[in-house]
Amino acid sequence: MLALTVKPRTPDSLAVLEVPDPEPGPGELLVDGIALGVCGTDVEISLGDYGTAPEGRERLVLGHESFGRVRTAPEGSGFSVGDLVVGVVRRPDPEPCPACAQGEFDMCRNNRYTERGIEGRDGFGSQMWSIEADYAVALDPALSQVGVLMEPTTVVAKAWEQIEQINTRAWQHPERLLVTGAGPIGLLAALLGAARGLQVHVLDRAAAGAKPRMVDALGGQYHTGAIDEVAAKVKPDIIIEATGSPEVAMSVVNAVTPAGIVCMTSVTPIGHNVEIDAGTLNRELVLENRVVFGTVNANMRHYRAAASALAAADTSWLEQLITRRVPLAKAEEAFERGADDIKVVIEL
Ligand code: BGC
Repeated sequence: MLALTVKPRTPDSLAVLEVPDPEPGPGELLVDGIALGVCGTDVEISLGDYGTAPEGRERLVLGHESFGRVRTAPEGSGFSVGDLVVGVVRRPDPEPCPACAQGEFDMCRNNRYTERGIEGRDGFGSQMWSIEADYAVALDPALSQVGVLMEPTTVVAKAWEQIEQINTRAWQHPERLLVTGAGPIGLLAALLGAARGLQVHVLDRAAAGAKPRMVDALGGQYHTGAIDEVAAKVKPDIIIEATGSPEVAMSVVNAVTPAGIVCMTSVTPIGHNVEIDAGTLNRELVLENRVVFGTVNANMRHYRAAASALAAADTSWLEQLITRRVPLAKAEEAFERGADDIKVVIEL
């Protein structure tokens, strides 16, 4: 079969190559890959900045935003041939740490976890893949065109779970959400915010195109321009930062109302120095009881929450998030960002 492979830490090493078909072990499903989403992490791996090949190997099968259809399932696995599935990205560390031991591998404390398509395990960018039934999640058949959006939705579902937990620390009645960055994470965060009844605001650089239309369709308001001015107008109780810009990430820290919550989701590039008045930054954070937290990855609870959120969403809205589909043979084109791209998907 064909797979999208890369030599981690080696720029320009992406290649679609013939690799051996997967052989599912006991308790594993064999899945026909339908599509693979490409995100900033994949781009970083392709640039040689991130990622690790499986032990003893030079190349990694890339891809963690999976979507496929079950080809074979062991009896008693809970899955049937034809089911739509996605694979969970992370696996607990081998020791495991106390968090991993409880199934909270997304909060691993010793960083010895592995991740499919990213850290030490082959990903889902292949015509077939196998997966432990315990790390596969079934999707509603109505999601046949958009199931590839599941993984980024799990990341957002985890972010919202934590925002809600932090919200219980004192009297809170959040009304206004500001999302910075209208990429897939930002727009999915806006979707889940709208589903919670919040007034949704989204800030992005793009002045026209699908992004403002999609925010409008959620009943939200779309903004361009300087973060300080937008925040002064909107007065957000919650900010979800999803631009990937170190400057914006620093600017949003004190842009929420007193006792507000700032959730950081961007894996920003290293080596960008931003001049800040650290005294003011910290002072305002303390005097206004603000919370700033970072979040990454997702556990099984978040996969279940994301599957429900997607099943409840308008599929035609979700379809508009996927702005380009390229065949596996031309996978490299998915790594070139077009001005109007939101989510680019490789068809397997
Ligand atoms: C993925 C996460 C992963 C993170 C760090 C993100 O793109 O969505 O599942 O934990 O990269 O490797």
